[in-house]
Amino acid sequence: AFPKGSILNRFGVTFEPDNNTSWESSPCLYGMVVESSWYNFSDEDMRGYEVLSNKYSRGVPMVLDFAFRDGSCPGADSSVRPGYRCVNGNSSCVNSTSAEGYFCKCLEHYDGNPYIPNGCQDINECELREQNPDLRDLYPCDGICKNRLGGYDCRCKPGMKGDAIKGTCTEKLPLAAKVTVGKH
Ligand SMILES: *[C@@H]1O[C@H](CO)[C@@H](O)[C@H](O)[C@H]1NC(C)=O
Ligand SMILES: *[C@@H]1O[C@H](CO)[C@@H](O)[C@H](O)[C@H]1NC(C)=O
Repeated sequence: AFPKGSILNRFGVTFEPDNNTSWESSPCLYGMVVESSWYNFSDEDMRGYEVLSNKYSRGVPMVLDFAFRDGSCPGADSSVRPGYRCVNGNSSCVNSTSAEGYFCKCLEHYDGNPYIPNGCQDINECELREQNPDLRDLYPCDGICKNRLGGYDCRCKPGMKGDAIKGTCTEKLPLAAKVTVGKH
């Protein structure tokens, strides 16, 4: 990892010839910036210059901790200065914690690119939890889910009451009453 607090504006990789190593004995030279937890060195990776590019044909992930370095988010009592970038709807400003600066992010329940006009779009939580069961804990709903701008509503199914988001919907009529109604 690059040291915390250091600001890196560009990077490059160069290889210097080493008189002690011949090209034949060590023909592979790789250089990449990659998320450190993601890559484990293996001898296999040295067996030919196409091993890595075949193994990771889609590329390797790297984490960019970027920020605008020409200021910070405006404070509650300061006016927005010219050139300030978090000006799109449905986005907000975050002060960088790794070094001086700030970046923008979409508001909660919005997703997308906060740097382009209308880049932050409402998340359809109901559709997402429908399509992806992994997201059901993130967007809980034990009832009828309905998307709205900046969130979603979740009601108990007809004939039930309670808090459908907390999953506490119960039958409106007590069991005994229902049984009686059923007899008539
Ligand atoms: C690297 O090794 C660690 C520990 O064995 C493992 O958890 C991780 O998934 C490995 N990463 C890759 C990209 O293989
Ligand atoms: C960001 O930092 C500035 C300067 O320290 C401060 O005035 C502002 O309140 C902070 N804004 C946020 C959103 O944290």
